[in-house]
Amino acid sequence: MLGAGGQLGSELKKLIPDAAALTRAQLSVSDLAALNSALPHYRPDVVFNCAAYNGVDTAEGQQDAAYQVNAQGAFNVALACAQQNVRLVHFSTNFVFDGALDRPYIETDEVGPLGVYAKSKLEGEKLTAMVMPRALVIRTAALFGGSSGQGRTSFPERILQRAMAGERLRVVSDQTVNPTYAADLAAAAMGLASSDLEGVVHVVNAGCATWDELARATLTEFGVAGEVEPVSTAELGAPARRPANGCLESMRTQALRPWREALSDYKQIVRSAPKSP
Ligand SMILES: NC(=O)c1ccc[n+]([C@@H]2O[C@H](COP(=O)([O-])OP(=O)(O)OC[C@H]3O[C@@H](n4cnc5c(N)ncnc54)[C@H](OP(=O)(O)O)[C@@H]3O)[C@@H](O)[C@H]2O)c1
Repeated sequence: MLGAGGQLGSELKKLIPDAAALTRAQLSVSDLAALNSALPHYRPDVVFNCAAYNGVDTAEGQQDAAYQVNAQGAFNVALACAQQNVRLVHFSTNFVFDGALDRPYIETDEVGPLGVYAKSKLEGEKLTAMVMPRALVIRTAALFGGSSGQGRTSFPERILQRAMAGERLRVVSDQTVNPTYAADLAAAAMGLASSDLEGVVHVVNAGCATWDELARATLTEFGVAGEVEPVSTAELGAPARRPANGCLESMRTQALRPWREALSDYKQIVRSAPKSP
């Protein structure tokens, strides 16, 4: 597993504790030579490429850094897997679409990425398919619940922290996504890895929500008081453009459980986790 220090990687690691789970510091996807020697060394049945440059806004000013990981990195991993004939599961994003449709996007819909992050991820998909047509490319959306390294937290955690700190909660209300529990995605990816499925597949928790809906659902689920103020994308003025409709559905695989159920499970896990001293 590559990019093992992130949200998804940390969940996959829990499911396959004996697998080689390599963080960026241990193996960078930018380093083809290192990948080429790591694969024969670890001899995995499957490579899960969870590595990504995920800064949607920072990517606008750091195009090279985003492409280095999301495009060149994906290419390198596919090349190394193709050479060793190893099953590859790569991850991509709902942001490959422009969000103009009025229904959830399915695998065969036309892509139209709006920002640098989205373009770099689409390039990663294309390069992966070019080098290794049998690779599985899982597009997902709005991940939450995994423990990403470097102090980054996912959206529900940030909402809870800000609400508990008494901060104002201004949250975008005109972009829809499928909030997707990293643990559910990891389990589904494991299952799909051992199937014959190839090419692009959408894997998300079922149902769509705007970010302010997700914020309210999180506060309700965790019993934390807070007032969520809806704001428009235009008012917020983020550097990167995002699809207004970032909702996915699959024509190729079964939908995961509804996101509200997953959020509820996430709460149980957070509540039962040992408190840090
Ligand atoms: N998070 C979302 O909402 C979301 C939505 C749609 C799709 N996705 C996709 O889902 C996948 C997993 O996302 P995630 O949320 O788990 O991401 P994440 O938490 O940001 O984890 C990505 C990991 O990749 C590592 N990484 C960065 N550059 C690397 C390199 N050159 N070599 C090896 N590792 C490198 C990062 O390490 P550092 O921490 O050291 O930088 C980080 O641990 C990605 O493909 C992402 O694009 C995510």
